Amino acid sequence: MNQVASPVVLITGASSGIGYETALVFARQGARVAALARRTDRLAALCEAAASLPGEILPLQADVTRPEEVRAAVDQAIARWGHLDVLVANAGIGHRGPLAEADWADLETVLRTNIDGVLHSVRAAVPALRASPGDGPRHIHLISSITGNAPPPYAATYGASKAFVNGLARALRVELAADRIYVTTFLVGQTDTEFAQRRLGHSGKVASKLPSMPASQVAEAIARVTFRPKRTVVLRLIDRVLIMAGAIAPTLFDRFQGRVYR
Ligand SMILES: NC(=O)c1ccc[n+]([C@@H]2O[C@H](COP(=O)([O-])OP(=O)(O)OC[C@H]3O[C@@H](n4cnc5c(N)ncnc54)[C@H](OP(=O)(O)O)[C@@H]3O)[C@@H](O)[C@H]2O)c1
Repeated sequence: MNQVASPVVLITGASSGIGYETALVFARQGARVAALARRTDRLAALCEAAASLPGEILPLQADVTRPEEVRAAVDQAIARWGHLDVLVANAGIGHRGPLAEADWADLETVLRTNIDGVLHSVRAAVPALRASPGDGPRHIHLISSITGNAPPPYAATYGASKAFVNGLARALRVELAADRIYVTTFLVGQTDTEFAQRRLGHSGKVASKLPSMPASQVAEAIARVTFRPKRTVVLRLIDRVLIMAGAIAPTLFDRFQGRVYR
């Protein structure tokens, strides 16, 4: 990590999976990490796992769908360390199943978490990032998905929520450039986490024919590109191929998605 030796990082969805691993990677590098999620037992386990690391973890119980709770979490991080340098907007939830038959409550949870939650996190963090001291850069990482580029069948609402995140990143990148706040979009492919078990709608694996990567691989990439002006990160060749195929051969790709996502 360059520029800032021990940045203050706020990670949403730090109680499991990618967020949890990202908190550990930053703590290993000496960062101060505000770890936000709803499950306090999991945040306590994260603190325990990080106890011997050079960095610090501040567990913060908050629901990203509640803007006042996200703002309070930012305030607590600033009260503890004086400033905020990095936001990792990672909290998210999936949904599987045909759109017309889906429970509205489930779809609403996906929209509230993946869209509203990201908006609340960014809107709460930006004033704090702008006030980050020194001449060093500030950074927002938006954790999106390769499905955001071509939302798959039977995961339409989830994919479209990530398409929203991609669009948001594109505009914010320009909007926040004058404040020296970099915005990086992570187009994440299938990753081994609790995501599939916690997904709403139908149970079971969606794209079981595609290989998974460990959450630590995503976490290390997030830490690596912090303070580097990188627009988009795609971690694996297979994910790059899928994104390219969706862009240059959309009809063929739709047929492929129809087979994989059943
Ligand atoms: N796993 C994959 O294959 C994959 C692929 C592409 C993109 N992604 C994206 O990666 C991100 C992380 O997912 P993951 O794979 O690490 O899954 P995960 O293990 O299920 O983690 C999801 C995290 O989000 C948090 N969260 C969910 N709703 C929340 C809310 N309302 N308020 C606060 N926190 C909330 C959860 O914490 P609490 O429940 O404790 O609040 C948990 O820490 C998501 O945005 C997901 O869309 C995942």
